[in-house]
Amino acid sequence: MTEPVSAPADVLVIFGITGDLARKMTFRSLYRLERRGLLDCPIVGVALDDWSVSTLRDRAREAIEAGGEPIDEQVFGRFAQRLSMVSGDFADPKTYDRVAKAIEGTHTPVFYLEIPPSLFGLVVENLARANLTTRARVAVEKPFGHDLPSARELNRKLRAVLEEWQIYRIDHFLGKEPAMDIMFLRFANSVFEPLWNRDRIHCVQLTMAENFGVEDRGSFYDPVGALRDVVQNHLLQLIGLFAAEPPSVAGADGVRDKRVEVFRAIPSLDPTHYVRGQYDGYTSIEGVKPNSQTETFAALRLEIDNWRWSGVPFFLRAGKGLPVRATEIRAIFKRPPKLAFTASTYDANELVLRIDPRAGANLVVQAKEPGANRTRTVDLSVIFAEELGEAPEPYERLLYDVMHADSSQFARQDGVEETWRIVQPLLDAPPAVQPYPRGSWGPPGAAKLVAGYPGWREPWL
Ligand code: BG6
Repeated sequence: MTEPVSAPADVLVIFGITGDLARKMTFRSLYRLERRGLLDCPIVGVALDDWSVSTLRDRAREAIEAGGEPIDEQVFGRFAQRLSMVSGDFADPKTYDRVAKAIEGTHTPVFYLEIPPSLFGLVVENLARANLTTRARVAVEKPFGHDLPSARELNRKLRAVLEEWQIYRIDHFLGKEPAMDIMFLRFANSVFEPLWNRDRIHCVQLTMAENFGVEDRGSFYDPVGALRDVVQNHLLQLIGLFAAEPPSVAGADGVRDKRVEVFRAIPSLDPTHYVRGQYDGYTSIEGVKPNSQTETFAALRLEIDNWRWSGVPFFLRAGKGLPVRATEIRAIFKRPPKLAFTASTYDANELVLRIDPRAGANLVVQAKEPGANRTRTVDLSVIFAEELGEAPEPYERLLYDVMHADSSQFARQDGVEETWRIVQPLLDAPPAVQPYPRGSWGPPGAAKLVAGYPGWREPWL
């Protein structure tokens, strides 16, 4: 056992810097950190591609521009100066000798592995052999396994050379500011806490809708499907934040313990409460098997068997090819009793926490309709950016956190194993996929899932 090292990173080494994720997210996030004055170490890219430093800088600039970020030449100049490149095969020990040479004199490296998980073991073993891991932190990208046994096996490979404190498992939903805000909203406001339980909440709906399809990711997506792609990780982490008890101790594990406690209280899921859909036309995408049974839509019901949540169903749905892009958690409260002084009945209050797009919160209440003896539904809503300013993007936040040894917004191995345990029965006995037209809300089965409870709400937009 080694003592955790909390000193900030003095170098960031990115394996897979020539890949897709770097192009779409990493360069832009690092550039934004540079602009905010929050980047203060060199960055070394490692990849098989034989890029020169100037190619790397050109690609970084292209990626930042393509991401819609206006380039400030002074900021970019500073950022570009940090970049250097080591090319080589990840299986070749000489590559790691070159990495060692490139980071000579540093003491607290961060290695960021944005490479396929099948290579994690190989890379960390070689880093350890080159004596580079003792004080290092290592950030790994999802997917973390494709079921419980493979997640354990992957962890075994990492743990063969690293301590748990050194491993930062990225789930970029945990890096979304509005996801983090769930805990703040709940616990920094005394008005919400008395409502946040089975006495007041009738059910919870969590929707992650995407109005685009699988497009050019067919060969990645087809062996994965919606359940593994976003439910086991992103959506369950959101449930962890929504349902957690207040952390009672400071520090990263104080927060992580509470999320994992929620997962422990969720019984493994029942395939009879699971609906799978596939949008029409999916099987003609390049990289998708012609007879593929992979789901592009998943809806399910889960329970949390603890004092706070017992008896409150949580309905989750995620899909591609749906009418809108929106991620929200919606608490639907119990209805008030019928009032003697009016004939009308009232819709329940709802509290919507919107994660994407345009993070915000909306309390749906009943107000008296002018001139009439009945109510109408009105929104008490806030768009966070309008009130509070723009928030950092998920990768900006997470890369900063790993460089500063804050693991609170990262998944921990026990949590990863719990979430796989929760979905495992659905992987073992998946119901048949039902087709749905693109631009619809998924197959009809999804509506049956919520029978006896309020129907799926259209996201607040
Ligand atoms: C990724 C999934 O993890 O999350 C994608 O692989 C999904 O399929 C994406 O589209 C959604 O993330 P965001 O931040 O764009 O909502």
